[in-house]
Order: sequence, then structure tokens, then C-alpha cells
Amino acid sequence: STASSYKNKDFLRCLSIHSTDIPIYTPINSSYTSTLRSYAQNPRFSTQYKTLKPLAIIKPSHVSHIQSTVICSKSHGLQIRIRSGGHDTEGLSYISDLPFIVVDLINLKSIEVDTTNNTVWVQSGATIGELYYRIAEKSRTLAFPAGVCPTVGVGGQFSGGGYGWLMRKYGLAADNVIDAYLVDANGMVFDSEAMGEGLFWAIRGGGGGSFGIVVGWKVKLVRVPPIVTTCRLDKSLDKNTKKIVYQWQYVANKMEENLLIGINLTGGNPTKGVKRNPTASFFSLYLGKTDKLIKIMNTTFPNLGLTKANCKETSWIQSTLIAAGFTNGQPLEILLTKPTLSNNISYKIKSDYVKQPISEHAFKGIWDRLQSHEVETSQLFLFPYGGKMNNISSSKTPFSHRAEFLYKISYTVGWAEQGTGANERHLNWIRELYSFMTPFVSNSPRAAYVNYRDLDIGTNNKCGKTSYEEASIWGMKYFGNNFKRLVQVKTMVDPSNFFRHQQSIPPLTLS
Ligand code: FDA
Repeated sequence: STASSYKNKDFLRCLSIHSTDIPIYTPINSSYTSTLRSYAQNPRFSTQYKTLKPLAIIKPSHVSHIQSTVICSKSHGLQIRIRSGGHDTEGLSYISDLPFIVVDLINLKSIEVDTTNNTVWVQSGATIGELYYRIAEKSRTLAFPAGVCPTVGVGGQFSGGGYGWLMRKYGLAADNVIDAYLVDANGMVFDSEAMGEGLFWAIRGGGGGSFGIVVGWKVKLVRVPPIVTTCRLDKSLDKNTKKIVYQWQYVANKMEENLLIGINLTGGNPTKGVKRNPTASFFSLYLGKTDKLIKIMNTTFPNLGLTKANCKETSWIQSTLIAAGFTNGQPLEILLTKPTLSNNISYKIKSDYVKQPISEHAFKGIWDRLQSHEVETSQLFLFPYGGKMNNISSSKTPFSHRAEFLYKISYTVGWAEQGTGANERHLNWIRELYSFMTPFVSNSPRAAYVNYRDLDIGTNNKCGKTSYEEASIWGMKYFGNNFKRLVQVKTMVDPSNFFRHQQSIPPLTLS
């Protein structure tokens, strides 16, 4: 609209006064479209990102660029979308229905590994894969407990927690952050000491996009043995496999913390006229050698039938590649790959947490739904808790899902077919499954993982201010009782609610 184009002109003029060397892309630049298109990670939003385009994309190469951008967008009434790795599962880092600009942190990606103090300063625009690669360049016995997918950004992932194969031994990525620097809603830069305890607490798990733009994180590295063991055992879904999946619930969270065994349940290919046969893949990482692992398995979970043939001894860094699906001896440099243009697969993710083993009846419902020919790709990922997660109090960071849970479930549906019909069919499938699971998973609140953002569980009020009560509907699900403290911090650091999106932490407003 004309109003937003005026806003944009004023905003650009403001930026040029503050700084002359900020990399800016507006629709008149030839690379604007290709830059924008690289945001199309999830074609589910293709209609939105064709119509709701940012007025400008800023790619800061210095922290002062971020400061100027915040100051100018605030004074000219433009919203900011912050983008690090761009994997937000609801597109919140690049779509907004208000006039907005994107701050893309891709040029701020330095990684400084300090093997004297076993710490790393990593900037938000780096990916998890780059972080792992740079650590391994310096040491084969140091590691970091973050996520599985190497192209995910450090910026978004650390903001919401960050779990992966080392979680049962060392907790989440956010649990291992010891310092950070951020640009706040007034364009000021703070490190952890200057930002104060409350804000430093909030940014380690309270979800991205609510408190400011985190420019970099200091993390402490963890120790891993030079040789670790990864195993994978695929079983097609017969009666025996069903029994093993059911039993897994009783043992996986009690295993020693050096061992993590997760299950991937997938729906199989939807071939017309052929009954789909779901599979259960058991994945594990053991921080030790195979012989010892097999011994442990023979006493704790013999029914799984894990043998040496299912396992491979390797380095931790190689194990991150294998976990990400690169099992053919690809070079470690694959970890440096940036997120590429969309592979044209739309997807939707939801999550649940389990307190009591779920019944065989519940599993029957899951099997039936995985066999459905309605959808292209369907997957449930069962990830065990216990270990270190039991020893971190639920208020230590905003991420409250700790000792009370046995495991987490993530549900994913993916589809290549384009169009609203296909979108609706697949979204209906995952929503129906989520609804079916209601009686079997945690409730009041029904816990969910903020890094698997799901706007179905509640959003802020589109027009006007969101009350604490309205926001608690989704907020308690992600953060439990920590939601209250997040709102208090927000009220203190960003009372005018400059950093906001559909599920940002709202400030308390005087009514
Ligand atoms: P993106 O740039 O889209 O940011 C996500 C959110 O954080 C947005 O709201 C954004 O505005 C905000 N944000 C980004 N940078 C910020 C900054 N510097 N300061 C403040 N706010 C910022 N999770 C996990 O824990 N373990 C895993 O193994 C995986 N695996 C995985 C695989 C795949 C294929 C997907 C799509 C997602 C995952 N995730 C995951 C979830 C992932 O951690 C989550 O989507 C992260 O928020 C993505 O971070 P990005 O920086 O890539 O996203």
C-alpha cells in the first residue's frame, strides 16, 4: 500500500543516516527475488510469501547494522522478522501480515573455538553443522549437545532449547550456553552480565523473536570419547515389533545416560492398492564401544535383538553425519552446506510429551493412521528423556519439560503435491492424529516443544493486545509455569511489544 511504501522510504532514509554500508535488498534490487525465494523452505506457505513480502531484507555484517535497523524500524512502525537458519516450522522468520523487514543474519556466522577453556563463541547466522565441523577441526573429544539436522540455524535453535543425541548426557543446547550478546528493542547491545539475570534466562529456551536479536552465543563444550557407537535397526511392523515399541517406553528413559535409543515410526510408501507397511527404525548413539553397548542391551533390552552387525564404531563428528542420514561415507564438509532452495516438500510438525507409557490401544490407533493412503510421508519420532534431563530443575531455563516426562513425540507429515486440496488433506491428517492422541499424552497443559512451533495450539490476538490469559493457552504448553516469568521479563525489556509475532511472549498491559 502507499502508506507502507512511505514508511519504507522513511525507514531506508533513516538507515542511510545511521550507517552507509548496510547490505540492503529492496524489490528494485535484482537479487531481492532470489534472496526471498531462498526463504521458501516450506512450500506450505507459498501463497503467503508471494503476497506478504518484506519491504526490505537487511543482511547485517556488523552488530551496528542490527542496532540501526532496530532503531529505524521501530521509529517508522515496521515489524522485524529475524532469520538465522530459516527453519521455523511456521515460517515466522520470513512471513508477516504487517508491513515488515527481514533481518537475515547469514553474514554473522563466525565461530571461535577455544580449546584452552573448552568454549566457543558462535554467531547466530552459523548453522549447527558448521558449529560441529569447527569443533571437530580442533578436537575429536570435544562436542556440543545440539540438534540433529545440520542446516538448522544456531539463532533459532538455541533460542528454543535444541535437543539431539547427547541430550541424555548433557541436556539441551540452551543448557550449555554461558554467555550471549543481544540487541534489544532500543537498539542497545548487551552481554549476559549487562542484560541482567532475567533476560539472560529468558533467551535460553523462551523461543526466538520475543526479546531481541541474539547476535552470538558463548557455549561450553562437552567431553566425548574418541570412539562412539551408532546403531540402526529397521523392523517392519509385525506383532513382535509392536511389542518391542511398546516395551521401549519402559526402558529407554532409564538407560544409562551414555546411551540414547530413539524410534522413528514411518508410514511407508503410498502405493495404490498395496497395503502400507509402516516401519520402526531404532536409532542409537552410545558414548563408548560396541562390545560394551551390546552387553548393556542384552541385560536391559534383550528383546530388541541389537547385534554388532547393526552398529558402527566411529568418531562423534562422523556420528553427526550418520544421524543426519549421510551414511555413505560422505565427507565431513557436508556439514558446511547451507540450507538450499526449497526441495518442494511441504511439511507440518507437531509435538507431544508422554508421562505414562501409552497403551497398546493408543499404538493401534497410531499404526492404523500410519497405514493411511491419504498422505505421502508420515512419521512419528519417539525421543527418550531421563538421564541429565532428570537432574535439571524445570525452572532453570524457560524450557520446563524435564524429569516428569518419559519421552517426546514429534509428528511430521510431508507432501510434494501442490495446491490447497493437498495441503488441507495432509494438515487434516496430522490434526486428526494429534486429536486422537489427546487422552494418552500430557495434559493441563498439554506440553509442546517451542522449536516445533505450531500455531494450531493458540496464537496471539491479531488485532489489539493479547492478554496474559489468552497467551497462556499456548504459552503454558511450551513453558509450563515458566511462562509467567517470561511475561515478566518481556514486560520489563520490551513493554511496547516491538519484537512480536503470532506466538511471541506478550508484555503485561495496563487495562
Ligand atoms: P529461523 O531463522 O526460522 O528462526 C526460528 C525462530 O527464531 C523465528 O521465530 C526467528 O524469528 C527466531 N530467531 C532466529 N534467529 C534469532 C536470533 N538470532 N535472535 C532472536 N530470535 C531469532 N530442533 C531441535 O531441537 N533438534 C533437532 O534435531 C531439530 N531438527 C530439525 C529438523 C528440521 C528439518 C526442522 C525444520 C527443524 C528442526 N528442529 C530441531 C527445530 C529447530 O530447532 C527450530 O525450527 C529452530 O527454531 C530453527 O532455527 P533457525 O535459526 O534455523 O530458524
